[in-house]
Amino acid sequence: MATADLDDWRSMYELNVLGTLRITQKLLPVLKRAAGGGTVLFISSTAGIKPYEGGGGYCASKFAERVMARVLRLEQIGEPVRIVDILPGMVRTEEFSLKRFHGDAERAASVYDGVPDPLEAEDIAECVRWALDQPDTVDVDSIVVRPRAEGSYTKVFRR
Ligand SMILES: NC(=O)c1ccc[n+]([C@@H]2O[C@H](COP(=O)([O-])OP(=O)(O)OC[C@H]3O[C@@H](n4cnc5c(N)ncnc54)[C@H](OP(=O)(O)O)[C@@H]3O)[C@@H](O)[C@H]2O)c1
Repeated sequence: MATADLDDWRSMYELNVLGTLRITQKLLPVLKRAAGGGTVLFISSTAGIKPYEGGGGYCASKFAERVMARVLRLEQIGEPVRIVDILPGMVRTEEFSLKRFHGDAERAASVYDGVPDPLEAEDIAECVRWALDQPDTVDVDSIVVRPRAEGSYTKVFRR
């Protein structure tokens, strides 16, 4: 926090907070008008549950995203809309760590060093599919999903 870069924070807030707000505001009326209802599905993060050192901006933006999902759900009670929030732990995707470490491929790869089977994008896709496949009257409020090797961001089993 003491040395955090304002531009980094700005881009995390732009993407995770304002981007989510913008798309939600555009999507909701369309869902209601064209489809008579539907689901707004957030993909926040376990970083929105428990903060960790070095993750101030990302955690703050993901805490914000979690709050947005919860507030939206309260505000939409009585409407034909479900609000789902999926909170992944460690997922090995193509760009996530690379972007985070500003293109430093070695540092990005080290995030997953020795971790047996981090989650893959397909695991999160399966959570999305399952949540959406529930009957229309069932709102899967949130799903926390981590690889078996991860107890928390700071407690990861490595071989
Ligand atoms: N990977 C993890 O460990 C992890 C864990 C918890 C939560 N998450 C969350 O899961 C979500 C997806 O992450 P990921 O791992 O799939 O990351 P990723 O590999 O970096 O993919 C990010 C995606 O977001 C798109 N994107 C980036 N900036 C955008 C913008 N300004 N407008 C529209 N789209 C934009 C990118 O599209 P382009 O390729 O077209 O730029 C890309 O498809 C993120 O919200 C992330 O915080 C990830």
